[in-house]
Amino acid sequence: MKTSRFAWVLLAAGLGIFLTLTPARALDQGQVPAIYKNIFVQNGIPLVKKGEKILHPLPSSLRPKYTITMLQGSPKGTAKGFDFLFADREFGLNLNQGTLFYSLWQPAEGRFPLPKYRFDTPIKNGFARLDMDDLKGKFDFIGWEKQKKGMIYYRVADGRGRILYEGRFAFSGNGPFKVDVSVAEGPFVVKVTDSSAVIALKLNRKAPVKIILDKRGFDSPNPAFAHKIPIDMLEPGRSYTYTVAAGGHIETYSLATAPAQGSQKPFTFCFGSDSRNSINSGERNMNGVNAYVLRRAMVLASFKNAAFLQFTGDTMTGYKANIHDQKVQMTAFKRAILPWASRMPVFVGMGNHESLVWAWDDGSEYGLSCDRFPFADQSAEAIFASEFVMPENGPISEDGAWYDPNPHTDGDFPTYKGNVFYYIWGNTAMVVLNTHYLMGPSLPKDKTVGGNLWGYLLDNQIAWLAKTLADLEKNPKIDHIFITQHTPVFPNGGHGRGARSMWFGGSNKFKPVFNSVKPDAKQKIPGCLERRDQYLKILMSAQKLRGVLCGDEHNYSRLLVKEGIPLYDPAKYQPKDPLKITKSFWHITIGTVGAPYYAKVDAPWNLDYPANTDYLKAFSPRKALAFFHVNGKNINLEVVDSLTLELIDQVEFTPVGQ
Ligand SMILES: [Fe+2]
Repeated sequence: MKTSRFAWVLLAAGLGIFLTLTPARALDQGQVPAIYKNIFVQNGIPLVKKGEKILHPLPSSLRPKYTITMLQGSPKGTAKGFDFLFADREFGLNLNQGTLFYSLWQPAEGRFPLPKYRFDTPIKNGFARLDMDDLKGKFDFIGWEKQKKGMIYYRVADGRGRILYEGRFAFSGNGPFKVDVSVAEGPFVVKVTDSSAVIALKLNRKAPVKIILDKRGFDSPNPAFAHKIPIDMLEPGRSYTYTVAAGGHIETYSLATAPAQGSQKPFTFCFGSDSRNSINSGERNMNGVNAYVLRRAMVLASFKNAAFLQFTGDTMTGYKANIHDQKVQMTAFKRAILPWASRMPVFVGMGNHESLVWAWDDGSEYGLSCDRFPFADQSAEAIFASEFVMPENGPISEDGAWYDPNPHTDGDFPTYKGNVFYYIWGNTAMVVLNTHYLMGPSLPKDKTVGGNLWGYLLDNQIAWLAKTLADLEKNPKIDHIFITQHTPVFPNGGHGRGARSMWFGGSNKFKPVFNSVKPDAKQKIPGCLERRDQYLKILMSAQKLRGVLCGDEHNYSRLLVKEGIPLYDPAKYQPKDPLKITKSFWHITIGTVGAPYYAKVDAPWNLDYPANTDYLKAFSPRKALAFFHVNGKNINLEVVDSLTLELIDQVEFTPVGQ
């Protein structure tokens, strides 16, 4: 691998100054995935040959707009308080203007420590000063003056008032002040099973961490920023208090393990997705996240004692061409689900907005783009895995499939690690799929580079799904199976047209584009609706399947998939041997945790709704969150408006369609 770095010099228009653009890492030709075509590397930068034209990366591919280093402001203790510098020298970034909001708070204040920002100070030329005199006397509700330690929570907004970041740090002293080792992000309780869990967190600087649970200590002794601490030998269906000790500070939360596999004990889980930003106003856009609605959803989930939240994609606006920008937005999502996610596991799947790309300037708004590479550490899938700690029991990758350009070596495809998986809660299994694996956002319109389609499940994921469903079907401890994926199989609003769901607007003509598939082998790739039918056939083999839970469309819809449901638009595609649905299941879409709403759009299964409710039973653009009340063999669905707490829909989920 080439390690030399180089600098791009660009005349900053209008300013008359030079900015240095330094790509994160110079590439060589050997790092361009063999599945892509027309990409060549020059001076460490990937370029695209499109016809006679050479396309260069959009500047955003090479230089971030924001980094975590810049936005967290590197607070430093002074005699009077703290100085912040909102800058990142590596990329020449500086937050010229803005506002720093801040407050004291303490993790022990209630089950869900939420800061109430009380003061603000301007950010000028990247610099801000926090005066601890502001937080004395009648504002010192945590007793820091006496204890000589405490915690500052803060919010960073830019010069136009847009919220960019929320952070916190622990401090000691009462003048001079010192920033201590602090939990900057987390703790998150993740990968919870009936006997184990993982506590994941990030610190403000490299240090060891210790978890104390039930008088047992779990050390993460190596000084590091990020820690994932496995907790084992837990009893099923039990609550545990746990304490995080980092530096001289401790925080205490609790977690609950899953019931024993096969348990008939009632529990509730909730489902939602799509919390990307809506309008550019206040918390509805906290750096790509609709933190206003997402936090309401977390409050509601916790108030209703949900055991876990399944959140399947579009955590943030994303689609970035830069790893730092993507991580900043994912951090905003993680900040918004805290502190509830310190107690309740949130299982996250990938959507189209988790896409992370190389984008080349072809004159269009977003450019020509493909999943970013090298896949091992820069793909959408790799960055998702680095930010979200999820189970890793899915397929490995598409390596080894017949279209693998190098069948005997790995690394020709991104990982499925942490983005395709399943987990079991009592008598219920949740299978999480990735309908956006290796997605090339420019497809199917522009095949210059290639990649996978939105909503197309490739062979290895399909094979894994078939095997996993067969195993769960045979498992006597499992009564109910759910599948969750970001894009709907049956769109009802927003994604009914075009290749932006598993319906592909009714067309079968779209296929993934891989350079390794020669023209005479193209017919071996099933068309997009043929692949959907293969997938549906696998679903129908699972008698325990109760529902497919989707997002992507920013509305709530409940569709009964049953015998007779129209599966084709004969004007576009009608196979000789059409698939027939032989097993009923619910298809639930809830992409309503913040993203802008969609109205209903006609599709073969929803014509004349609401006069005709043969298949589509409910539709709403409200900010819905679904609660599945599992009680042994029975499940009840309750859908609640997370803003008004009104009931939107309620139905006996089992037996399906009765
Ligand atoms: Fe989406």
